[in-house]
Amino acid sequence: MREDAGSALTAAARRSLAGTSDPRLRFVMDRLIAHLHAFIRETELTEAEWLRAIQFLTATGQISDDRRQEFILLSDVLGASMLVDEINHPAGGPVTASTVLGPFYRPGARDLPLGASISQDARGEPAVFSGRVLAPGGTPIPGALLDVWETNENGLYEQQDPDQPDMNLRGRFRTDAAGRYTFTGIKPVSYAIPDDGPVGTLLRALGRHPYRPAHIHFIVSAQGYRPLTTHLFVRGDPYLASDAVFATRDALVVDFIRHDTPTEAAAHGVTAPFYTVTYDFVLQPLDTATAPGGGTAPQSARIKEAQP
Ligand SMILES: [Fe+2]
Repeated sequence: MREDAGSALTAAARRSLAGTSDPRLRFVMDRLIAHLHAFIRETELTEAEWLRAIQFLTATGQISDDRRQEFILLSDVLGASMLVDEINHPAGGPVTASTVLGPFYRPGARDLPLGASISQDARGEPAVFSGRVLAPGGTPIPGALLDVWETNENGLYEQQDPDQPDMNLRGRFRTDAAGRYTFTGIKPVSYAIPDDGPVGTLLRALGRHPYRPAHIHFIVSAQGYRPLTTHLFVRGDPYLASDAVFATRDALVVDFIRHDTPTEAAAHGVTAPFYTVTYDFVLQPLDTATAPGGGTAPQSARIKEAQP
């Protein structure tokens, strides 16, 4: 195939954006067309493959609803979600590392008092999470909001499991005057992402497993700070090195310390054995945040004009 096959078509598709008034939209669409055309040219995509891709994306949309988000899952298993995250939240420095939101977040979790349990069905091994929310210099942030969610001991989020109460293992907590939080959940388990849909079919075709290392999700926010979307992972999990969605970060792997004494458990309002986890989240002040997405025109210095 000639390297310039369809180049006039690519140029015409890019020129069609000339009337786009939003410069960022024009830039992003220009790059999308250039890269998409280059991909088709490089792979010499067949009509059958093109149609199969359309059918795959159609099925991805059709299986999605308000409880299942197959497009986020697809983005996750392709590493796209984590790449967006890394560009928007570069690792390093004192600020807590972020990671993907994932497809299972639901807004509207119950506001709970500090110390409360997010479990409504008392399944799983209790885990008491505590720590502080801090500014980079170590100043505590009172009133910071922690929105947390995790699977039950069977590896299923509540919206995947008709046997769980609605909004089980989800909750929102606010830090006290000293920036402290504490709540009870369960020790996370590793789980398979939903693999009964198009994404599962794709993973099997690629010879990949669907497992994620055990984790609990957090969105931590406070006025004047950049919201932090992250996980805490369980040290020792066998899938830490092969997360199906590429979302592990070393700084987010924590120790779950096991306790077997009934008196200790009683003091925490749980039953033995139980686990404790301590973690301080550090948020980035908004006035020091640098937003990506600065490229607005095809002549952006970051990407050469003529090359996809
Ligand atoms: Fe998850």
